[in-house]
Parts: sequence; structure tokens; C-alpha cells
Amino acid sequence: MSEKDKDEVSEAQIAVHWQEENYYHPSPQFSAQANMTDPSIFERFSLENFPECFKEYADLLTWDQYWHTTLDTSDAPCWKWFVGGKINASYNCVDRHLKQHKNKAAIIYVPEPMDEPHVTLTYQALYVRVNEMAALLRDFAGLKAGDRVTLHLPMTPDLPVTMLACARLGVIHSEVFAGFSGKACGERAADSGSNILITIDSYYRGGHLLDHQEKLADSIKASEANGQKIDKVLVFRRYPGKHSSKIPMLEGRDYFIDELLKDYQGKRVDPVSLPAEAPLFMMYTSGTTGKPKGCLHGIGGYLSYATATSKYVQDIHPEDVYWCMADIGWITGHSYIVYGPLALAASSVMYEGVPNYPDAGRPWKIAEELDVNIFHTAPTTVRMLRKAGPDEPKKYNYHFKHMTTVGEPIEPQVWKWYHEVVGKGEAVIVDTYWQTETGGFLCSTLPGFQAMKPGSAGPGMPGIHPVIFDENGNEVEQGSGIAGNLCIKNPWPGVFQTIWGDRDRYVENYFGKYCKNRDSKDWRDWPYFTGDAGMQAEDGYYRVLGRVDDVINVAGHRLGTKELESACMVVDAVAEASVVPISDELKGTVPVIYISLKPNFQASTEIEQAIIRAIESEIGKIARPRHVYIVPDMPKTRSGKIMRRVLGSISNRADVGDITTLANPEVVEEIRKMVQED
Ligand code: WT7
Repeated sequence: MSEKDKDEVSEAQIAVHWQEENYYHPSPQFSAQANMTDPSIFERFSLENFPECFKEYADLLTWDQYWHTTLDTSDAPCWKWFVGGKINASYNCVDRHLKQHKNKAAIIYVPEPMDEPHVTLTYQALYVRVNEMAALLRDFAGLKAGDRVTLHLPMTPDLPVTMLACARLGVIHSEVFAGFSGKACGERAADSGSNILITIDSYYRGGHLLDHQEKLADSIKASEANGQKIDKVLVFRRYPGKHSSKIPMLEGRDYFIDELLKDYQGKRVDPVSLPAEAPLFMMYTSGTTGKPKGCLHGIGGYLSYATATSKYVQDIHPEDVYWCMADIGWITGHSYIVYGPLALAASSVMYEGVPNYPDAGRPWKIAEELDVNIFHTAPTTVRMLRKAGPDEPKKYNYHFKHMTTVGEPIEPQVWKWYHEVVGKGEAVIVDTYWQTETGGFLCSTLPGFQAMKPGSAGPGMPGIHPVIFDENGNEVEQGSGIAGNLCIKNPWPGVFQTIWGDRDRYVENYFGKYCKNRDSKDWRDWPYFTGDAGMQAEDGYYRVLGRVDDVINVAGHRLGTKELESACMVVDAVAEASVVPISDELKGTVPVIYISLKPNFQASTEIEQAIIRAIESEIGKIARPRHVYIVPDMPKTRSGKIMRRVLGSISNRADVGDITTLANPEVVEEIRKMVQED
């Protein structure tokens, strides 16, 4: 880029220095069995055929009544899909499979303790449990269609059973990740207006039976402080019949579910036939600022999108053993452990605990035992497993045909380890880019016929038409490699319907920036803004550079934190890298780099120098960091995302704020000492 061009770089633009990677191709064996091998799907799902193309997805479901309007835009940008249709999600994920698959594993549950046996719920067993739970929710808790209920449940089968029981009644479930505090749960319960809270006494994590009921008092307090009374608390027990919490039950409010269920044995509840656009669930997501947003997803649109993407991108066939090692407390688990796979009558594995308990070989041991052949996880977990046990996968005799990564950009170095070592060079990989708000994948390769490119998510999915805008709303030239704000031109069935109770925020956040006419009822006037910076390479593949507010502006040069981090990974000793800006009088901001090392490497100035050299050669002198700190561990959220905010505050000597929800709050003080007493 010439000096002159540099001055003309718009706000939305981020300099892209990341090298293009080589393609990897799916094996002929994979392609021969893939669910989608027909490139003409992109023609069928072209904008000319929008929105009717999505009929193909909706037809994967069983409808009580067929719809008359594919997309209703009358309340733009709150889109309604498949209007006129009637449907039930629980019926689609359970009942409709009984005829052919009642004896097939729906959920294979792996408890964390090594000495507890796996639990298999067949479709028939799931049907029985969902019905009895639905009867309890309706007749004991008094819940009916349209009511909200808050779940604060970890990874036991009780969670999908409860979700499907809610779906059977049309009750809107709002699951709060079990790792979140009681306060976080209570605030969300209040925001959603839930008067019923469903929790569990305890669960295993990292070798300990955690007392989860301990959080209940804070939930109730926070909910009431925000104006919502909780009338009943329904408590699962990790070991039915045995209370594993030191917290006593409050009479008249708290009830053991296993005791209540005795009254509902053998009960059957007809699935309630609901309008396609009725809400199925809400899921809270944190914005960069402000209170969490309750993203509302509708039954017909969401379920058809989750089902179709599970079929064509996850490539799930009836005979596969599919394992998504996410937590159902996140959207990934909703779409790709529960709703998508079960709608396809798949066998979905769920694991209670942490991936490295008792050691970093656990996932591969589970894969071997269950003969898992589709595996789904996040880059943060891949990095952790690579750090803790780089050679572990080789010790286990499993074979994946397919692997997924989701949640953040994956560094090419890490991708290659995932491919060569975890995937044994045999598995295809899909890098799936999406959001809580989007219900399902936005960008990914279709694994049967599109090549993989490490570090790139891939092209837009069929029927998803991405566009990159600059700050002024001009379209960045397609395939130009110029970065900008990543948007989607059109609505799609999986997109959320609104933010619970805050339509204005929904419109402002996701559509405000690029909508030219707020009165318009034409979807073409309402591009969806993802909040991510991205670029499209010549081959049409998108690379996500991170949230637009996560960029570092060095001397007017916007650098994506992710590509700086990726450059660090070129140094062999590096396990994880995190880059934050600190203010600089001359350059505005400059990067500071935090590094954690693989086992058997010691911090040294050689490693620090190697990292600086890597940044200079991969990106340029402009990005030369002020400091490289080699730290024992990164501050992380319970879901494994590195908390750049905390590192940023330490670097800038600002208040680190609330760190109580971190997985490892103790490292914060260690890092602070290292940096501030430097
Ligand atoms: C944000 C959404 C999608 C389920 C889990 C996260 C980032 C997500 C990728 C990917 C690059 C990615 C984006 C997005 N992201 N997937 N494959 N490559 N970035 O859901 O918590 O709603 O986060 O995660 O920045 O906006 P979420």
C-alpha cells in the first residue's frame, strides 16, 4: 500500500497482511458419502430465487399445517418466516422419529467421572422423559405457550429433556450457561419475565462435584431486585433420590423434580401446534456495552435452518456418531447438539465435564469408545488440547470423517494441528462462522465439494449473501481482499426475531448503520450488520478479522488483533497469544502481546525476540509490539474466550472491573504484578 493510499483508508478498513493459505481438498471417500455434493445449490439459493429457495430447508421438517407466505416483511426488520404454517419443535425432534428409530440412541451422555457409565437415551426413552417433564411443567408449574422459563442447567440430559418439554408446550426456554453466576442468572430471569427457575443441585467439573444450588440464593435476589418474583424453583438432582448440595430446600418454593415426576409417570402431552413464527427460545448474549440481549428465535425458521445446516455442513447421516463438544448453555449447543441433530434423528453425544479431565487425552478416549466420527469444537479448546497434549490423539484409535471449528477465527498453525493430528489427515474441517443472533452458520465451506483454506471461514452459505461495507455504506469490491464491515444482504430463516423487550435496540444494533430507509418494508433496504470486520479474498472466501471494536489503530493503520495473534503462533513455543492496544503519544495505540507457552517450554528472551521477529516479518514493523509478556495462563471466560478486556486494563493500568465470572480469576493478579511492577 502506498503512503497516499494509507491516508485514504476508511474507518471500517483494517489492513490485511495475513498470507493466503493453500487449499486442502476433501478426500474422495468423504465426498462420495456427503449429503450435499451438488454445486448447483448455490444457483437454487441465489438472490433471484430468494426467499422461496428456503422452502427446500423447511421441507426437511414435518408441518402440522403448511405455510402460505415464505417471508413476511410487513414488520421489517422483524422478519417472519413460513407464515401460516403450524409446527411443533418437540414433535420434529422426537415423535416423528419413533416409527423408524425408536430404539436408536438420541443422546449418548458421558458423565465426567471415569467410573460412571455412559447413559444412552433412545428416541423412545427421550419421548417418555420429554412427555413426563412437559406434563410437570404444564400441570405443576402452570406453564403455557408464550410463557418464559429460565433454566440454569449444566451438561446433563436433564437440559435437553427440559428444552424439548418446553418446546412441546410452546413455553419459551431461556437457558443460562451453568458457569454463570447466580446474579447473572437472576438478572436474565428478570429480563425475560420468568417466574419459574429450573436448576440442579450439583454437577461434575474438573474432577469436583460442584455445589450448583449454592448459586440459587443470588439468582433469586438478583431477580427480585430487578422486579421479578420467582414463584417456584424446580431442582434436578445429579443423583436422583440423593441431595448433593449443602443448601436446604425452601418449603413452598423449591421442589425436587425427581420427586414430582412420580406423579407424572406415563403421562403423555400432545405437542401444541404453534404458528411457525412463535418463539422457540431465547438466548442471552453480551454486547460489548450495555446489558445482555435476549435474542429471540422463532420455531419454524430457526428449526429449518438448524436442521438443514446440520445436514449439509455437519454432514450428519443417521448412522453417524456425532459429538459437538460445546455447552448447551451456548447457541452452538442449542443448534448443533440439540435441535439440528435431533431433528435429523441423529445420535448426539453430550459430555458433562471439561475436555482435559483427567488429562488431555479424554476427548480422544471418548471418541474411541463411542466410535465418534463427527467432532465439533472451538479454537480455544483446540489450542488448549494442543498445548496440554500435542501427541495425545495419536494414542487413540478413533477416526473422524468430519470436524468443525466455531466461535472465533482459528489461526492457520492451530488449524494445521487440528487437521494433521486430531483429524489424522483424514477428516474434512469446516470453519463455521456465525453468531448467537444468526441461529446457524453464515459462512462455511460445504464439505463435500468445497476446498478448505486454513484461517478462512469460507464463502457465504447457500442463501446467505454477505457484503462488505465501508464506513460510509459503500460496497467494498467483491474479492478485493479489502477489509470492512461484514454484513448480510438478506434475511434468512435462522436469524433472530428481535431482542426480548427491546425492539429499538435490535433495529439500532443490527440494522441502524446501513439501513437507508427506516420506513421500508423491502428486505433489500435492511442489510444485517454482524459487528465483525471481515474481508473477502479473490476466491470468494471470507476471513473474519474479529469484532469491529477489537481493532488496534497504530498510526492510522487499523490492525486486526487476530492477525497479530496469528503471527505469534508461527513461533513453535507459543500456545496462545492475545494482543491488546495501549495508548501511545505518537502512534495513538501500539500493541502489547501476551503469550502462554506449550508445556516443556520456558519463558526466555529468545522466545520474546522470536515473536517480535515473527510479527515484523508476517505483518510489518508498523505492528512491532511495545512488550511481549509470557504469562502462566490467559484470563478466560468460562466458555474459554480470552478476556482481552482484562489484559487491556492491566496494560493501561486501569481498573480490571468485575473478574468474578472468569474461569481463572487468580491469574489476573499474577499478570498485573508481572506487568505493572515491570
Ligand atoms: C462472534 C459470535 C457462533 C456460535 C459461538 C459464538 C466470532 C464465531 C467464528 C469463526 C471467526 C467467529 C465472531 C462472531 N466468530 N465464529 N468461525 N471465525 N470468528 O457465538 O458468542 O454469539 O459470538 O464470534 O466475532 O460475531 P457468539
